Amino acid sequence: MAIDVNALWCVVPAAGRGARFGGEIPKQYLPLAGRPLILHTLERLAAHPRVTGLVVVLAAQDRWWPQVGEINGKPVRTAVGGSERGDSVLAGLRALPDEIDETQFVLVHDAARPCLRYEDLGRLIAEGARSGGALLAAPLRDTLKRANGFNRSIETEAREARWRAFTPQMFRRGELMAALEAASARGVIVTDEAMAMELVGHKPMLIEGAEDNIKVTTPADLKLAEFLLEKTT
Ligand code: CTP
Ligand code: MG
Repeated sequence: MAIDVNALWCVVPAAGRGARFGGEIPKQYLPLAGRPLILHTLERLAAHPRVTGLVVVLAAQDRWWPQVGEINGKPVRTAVGGSERGDSVLAGLRALPDEIDETQFVLVHDAARPCLRYEDLGRLIAEGARSGGALLAAPLRDTLKRANGFNRSIETEAREARWRAFTPQMFRRGELMAALEAASARGVIVTDEAMAMELVGHKPMLIEGAEDNIKVTTPADLKLAEFLLEKTT
C-alpha cells in the first residue's frame, strides 16, 4: 500500500466557546507567553517539515482570530465551525485543498493544546501512516473511581487497557469524513475523531505521547501551559 504523507494538512478546531474556562475571550485567544495561545499551537504544528498547511476552524461570530495567512511559510486557511466539535472538524475537512484526495492522511489537533512536542508529532505521523490511523494518548496511571451523585466513591474500575486520548489524531481524509458523517447521522456526539472511527469499525492505533500535551480547559491549565511551553519543544 502506498503511504503518502507528502502533503499532510492539519485541521485545527478553534470554534469552541471555552465554557469551562469562562470569561469573554475564548481560551484559544488568551495571551500565553505574550501571544495568543492558538499561535503557539499553530507554530508547533507548522514546525514539522511534513506538515504542509493548516485549516483553522473558527466560530461563526469569531472576533478574535489574529488573521494570520501563513505560519513558518505554510498556508493557513480558515473555515467556519459548528455547534459540536465534530461539526467543526467536518467543516475543516471540507475546506482542505482539492489536491488532498480522500486516501491522503490528515491531522486533527485541538487549538487548545499548545504544548505539543515535536518528537511526539513526528512519531504520530510515522506510526499513523504505518498503522492506517492513530492518535496520541497516554495510559491511565491513577486508580480509577466511579462516583455516585454525591461524589462518594462506590467502585474502583480496572485501570488496565484504559488510555486518555489526546490530539493530534491522524486519519485518511475520506475515512474520517465518512466516520464523522455517520456519527452525525446517528445523532452521536463524538468527542474525538478516534471515537467516530471506532463507531464505524476502525481500530485506531494508540501512540503513547507526553502527558504535558495538556488541553487548556481551566485558568489553572493556562498557568501550567505557560510553564510547560518554556520546558518543551
Ligand atoms: N471546538 C470547536 N468547535 C466546537 C467545540 C469545540 O472547534 N463546537 C474546539 C475548541 O475550540 C478546542 C477543541 O475543539 O480547540 C477542544 O474542545 P474543548 O477543549 O472542549 O473547548 P471548548 O469546547 O471551547 O471548551 P468547553 O467545552 O469548556 O466549552
Ligand atoms: Mg468543549
